[in-house]
Amino acid sequence: MSADDDKRVAAEAAVAEVRSGMMVGLGTGSTAAHMIRALGRMVADGLDIDAVATSVASAELARTLGIRVHDFAGVARVDLTIDGADEIDDRLLVVKGAGGAMLREKCVAAASGRMVVIADGAKRVPAIGAARVPVEVLPFARGFVMRALAKRADPATRMTGGVPYRTDQDMLVVDCLFRDLSEPHGTAAWLQAIPGVLGHGLFLTEVHAAYLATNGTVTKLERPVNRD
Ligand code: 5RP
Repeated sequence: MSADDDKRVAAEAAVAEVRSGMMVGLGTGSTAAHMIRALGRMVADGLDIDAVATSVASAELARTLGIRVHDFAGVARVDLTIDGADEIDDRLLVVKGAGGAMLREKCVAAASGRMVVIADGAKRVPAIGAARVPVEVLPFARGFVMRALAKRADPATRMTGGVPYRTDQDMLVVDCLFRDLSEPHGTAAWLQAIPGVLGHGLFLTEVHAAYLATNGTVTKLERPVNRD
């Protein structure tokens, strides 16, 4: 089975949590696209849901499949969000944002009663930190923010087609390889305190569960109820 097959298997396991009447948060990326396609089939079969999307691409895909997608600006609470991930450890500390949507993903996750991530099993790691952590940056403050990030990380401006990548809200992404991510909560607070940093891909408290598929077999990790 390919990694993409496992992404699909994980996505199809997670959509079993979706019920009619829910406001569903739709993640971004190739695994989330499998989830949106699975939801589209369920909607065609009578599932009655509303949705918000974490990117323009996910909103467009969902709408073409007949899913009712609302502007998140008018939505205060989401029942369940299903999204992809780049690294997940067994404490459900997660790195996201290889697709560049981490700021919207963080907002939708924070509004969600429950967030589950879906991934192929290769994304499961003993401890997050090997992957670069994407940081969304106000272009106006790029030079200052790069200098600040370099104190703790190797920062690289994300490029596409020879020009700086821009997010859906026209911001820059700086991918940061941290020299030490053994205290991710402290790193997240430090990042968030840099003026000009709009968001980052460390999801340390948002994720309630993960569906991880390896060779077609799904492992579900669930956060203990009393953890914050
Ligand atoms: C986008 C994300 C994606 O969910 C994450 O990068 C995983 O992507 P994929 O499912 O394509 O591997 O965080 O900002």
